[in-house]
Amino acid sequence: MPTHRSSLITQNSCARRVLVTGGAGYIGSHVVLALGEAGYQVLTYDNLSTGNRDAVLHGELVVGDLADKPLLAQTIADFQPDAVMHFAASIEVGESVNKPLKYYRNNSVHALNLLEAVREAGVNRLIFSSTAAVYGNPLELPVTEDTLLAPINPYGASKMMSERFLADLAQADEAFEYVALRYFNVAGADPQSRLGQDYANPTHLITRALKTALGIFPKLQVFGTDYPTADGTCIRDYIHISDLAQAHLDALTYLLNDGTSQIFNCGYGHGFSVREVVSMARQVSGIDFIVEETDRREGDPAELIAANAQIRRELGWQPQHDDLEFILRTAWDWELKLSKGRN
Ligand code: UFG
Repeated sequence: MPTHRSSLITQNSCARRVLVTGGAGYIGSHVVLALGEAGYQVLTYDNLSTGNRDAVLHGELVVGDLADKPLLAQTIADFQPDAVMHFAASIEVGESVNKPLKYYRNNSVHALNLLEAVREAGVNRLIFSSTAAVYGNPLELPVTEDTLLAPINPYGASKMMSERFLADLAQADEAFEYVALRYFNVAGADPQSRLGQDYANPTHLITRALKTALGIFPKLQVFGTDYPTADGTCIRDYIHISDLAQAHLDALTYLLNDGTSQIFNCGYGHGFSVREVVSMARQVSGIDFIVEETDRREGDPAELIAANAQIRRELGWQPQHDDLEFILRTAWDWELKLSKGRN
């Protein structure tokens, strides 16, 4: 049963309302908290397939699936959001190669369901979680927003398709405006350890490394040491979750002030190799965990680094945590908290 209570709407009737799909997930939950702290009314819509009820620290939660169009429509009609933020998605590059249809359904078809519901309800502002995976193996680095989209895995392709839905809709429908944020490698946790990444089977490098340090995994595998990079391992642009959350708030302010549709990269503009991240994980945890170098993981581009001039210029985004050690330290504090039980 939905847990949404209409009393919420009258609680602070002046505040702008934001519906957040996937608000119980890693990125969504940090943004929900940031929205709450900034005075927005928030309603999370999440099927809890990978998210956690406990991670929704502000506003109400409707437990619902984007496949459930009647519930989605009813939720939007009841809440009357000024804007929607769409995070709910499947997010693992490796899994997408083996289960492509899951990605096209969860990421593309469900985005379509949401867009239909949003437009039927007359909501005309949307912020979309896109990804650097839409670029594939980019021909130039850093990657600008104009770089050719050429995804090399179904995850990137499924997100590229949703971006296309948005672009075509905005073209056809004068009232509708969106911002698509192309995330590079989001990592770290809330600096106060209220939230962090909490998946049953985490696959992301930093989380795997720190859980290995804690003994939850016996060893960390490094996928590929023969890439055309300085140390042979993949390079990624790791961005702290709080800076990414701020990018969403900046995008929301922009759209609510009549900004027009735009696409922005979210990254710091420089990267670290897998080996550099592993070394920082050992330093921050103080634990010399076991690392095994293995074959490449399918679907991984060698290097992804964001050009971020556009988001700085257009949204005034100013990152505060461009520091790999800080990213690892906040993630480590969160892992320590999780290992002791959340409280
Ligand atoms: N890696 C390992 N061992 C692991 C996990 C990861 O060596 O146990 C390597 C990967 O092969 C890759 C790098 O660490 O080279 C980063 O991998 P992640 O799984 O942490 O992240 P991805 O780069 O695959 O993907 C992430 C997001 C995507 C986004 C992409 C953009 O999950 O949504 O960053 O850069 F598109």
